[in-house]
Amino acid sequence: MNSIWDIGCDHGILGLSFLQYPAITKIHLVDPSIDVIRTLHNKLIDSYITKQPLIEIQHKKGQDVILNPEPKVIFIAGMGGREIQEIIKNLLPQLTPFDRLVISPHRNILELRQFLQVSALRLVDEVAIQEDGQFYQILCLETSVQFPAVSLYGEKIWQGPVGEQYRQHQIRSIGLHQDKASKAYVSYLKLLSY
Ligand SMILES: C[S@@+](CC[C@H](N)C(=O)[O-])C[C@H]1O[C@@H](n2cnc3c(N)ncnc32)[C@H](O)[C@@H]1O
Repeated sequence: MNSIWDIGCDHGILGLSFLQYPAITKIHLVDPSIDVIRTLHNKLIDSYITKQPLIEIQHKKGQDVILNPEPKVIFIAGMGGREIQEIIKNLLPQLTPFDRLVISPHRNILELRQFLQVSALRLVDEVAIQEDGQFYQILCLETSVQFPAVSLYGEKIWQGPVGEQYRQHQIRSIGLHQDKASKAYVSYLKLLSY
């Protein structure tokens, strides 16, 4: 049976969307903000949600989470790459081959990908999405060696119409940076054509 972890859950929309899946046995909503936790508790008391025993709210940082041993899907979205890296360092030794990690970093993505590239996490899938004029990367990761290592710049995320718009956007915005890492990244992107 699967459980869901929504780390940095804020409004809890992502984690709570799994209430409709019968195979889900527990939804863990985690956030270090006391305001977020109070709002979530009030939301659940006032709400129509009848499956409340399924939901567990934890007031803590992702760096302090202790996972359950059963198979689980862990979401970490809407934080900077450095914060996500620190959270992953805590989770990695606790992961089993039956677990899946889905992350969507909002900043310092190259730095995070550099860390992932040499970590025990492998890439199941990656996609770029566009929402309200912003581009986001979503990476699905597991520890199983049947999957390839995470690449530094990404591969599949540049495919398709959204990938192409994202590539042009990155060339324009990161192309303004003068540091060596940004220049190497932009050179890679300019060579891509799908
Ligand atoms: C922008 S919201 C993202 C909400 C949701 N995950 C989403 O993607 O829509 C970021 C949330 O991460 C929480 N947060 C910040 N640092 C964190 C950490 N180290 N561990 C867990 N949550 C954290 C914040 O309190 C905030 O509620």
